[in-house]
Amino acid sequence: MMLQTKGLSRNFGGLQAVDNVTMGIREKTIHAILGPNGAGKTTFFNLITGAIPPASGTVSYLGKDVTGWSPERLANIGIVRTFQRTSIFTKLTALENVSLAIRSRKGLNFSIRRSSVIERDVEEEAQRCLEAVGLGNKGRVVAENLAHGFQRSLDVAIGLALHPKLILMDEPLAGMSRGDRQGIADLILKLRDEMGLTVVLVEHDVGMVMSLSDTITVMQYGKVIAEGPPDAIRQDAAVKSAYLHGSFAS
Ligand SMILES: Nc1ncnc2c1ncn2[C@@H]1O[C@H](COP(=O)(O)OP(=O)(O)O)[C@@H](O)[C@H]1O
Ligand SMILES: [Mg+2]
Repeated sequence: MMLQTKGLSRNFGGLQAVDNVTMGIREKTIHAILGPNGAGKTTFFNLITGAIPPASGTVSYLGKDVTGWSPERLANIGIVRTFQRTSIFTKLTALENVSLAIRSRKGLNFSIRRSSVIERDVEEEAQRCLEAVGLGNKGRVVAENLAHGFQRSLDVAIGLALHPKLILMDEPLAGMSRGDRQGIADLILKLRDEMGLTVVLVEHDVGMVMSLSDTITVMQYGKVIAEGPPDAIRQDAAVKSAYLHGSFAS
């Protein structure tokens, strides 16, 4: 397994948000986490990306124990999270946004004297990240002027700038139009198939999850209630009963 949690738990006071979750993510797969609101999906993400520490349990990545590591340290070894609203600087251009992420990966900052060679390298790499997400011709556009769907793609480009091996997306399709959703879905497939990345996503669009994912883990009340390929999950009795009226809408 590329990423493996064992007995991962986290409570908020008396509420057990993530309860003894053992989950393995295979390399170069798209692995979705499904579950009703409040199931603990985002908290699970927060635990494996270092945003909050677990109460108990372990996280290992490529065989290494990374439990309790900070998001920055995890990013350095390839675990990157996208779709955090805060990752885009709205007043900067798309190219500047990605360049900043590259500079932070390289440990460059604005206080050191700029070398034009470094600047050119950074900019060229930023342009390649934009091209990878279909924003090759949007580099000079100020982020806040990008259409909603393009801003999501920019978020992915910023993530790619950190050289991820494992990319985690919390509700990448939320609030998007049908057409934009397909664009992001295509991008997620491209991340796996053309860039060799591993993708973990939380998503409410069950149709999209079923068509995109190699593996689905279903959570309810902080626990894993089912795991398997989409076809098995679709048939699963525990999954059906976790959702009202046996449908997947949540
Ligand atoms: N920082 C927090 N403080 C207190 N309770 C929280 C906090 N974060 C999440 N919770 C609670 O933990 C449970 C799981 O939440 P969450 O992980 O956001 O679920 P999901 O993403 O599946 O909707 C919910 O009951 C939520 O209210
Ligand atoms: Mg959530």
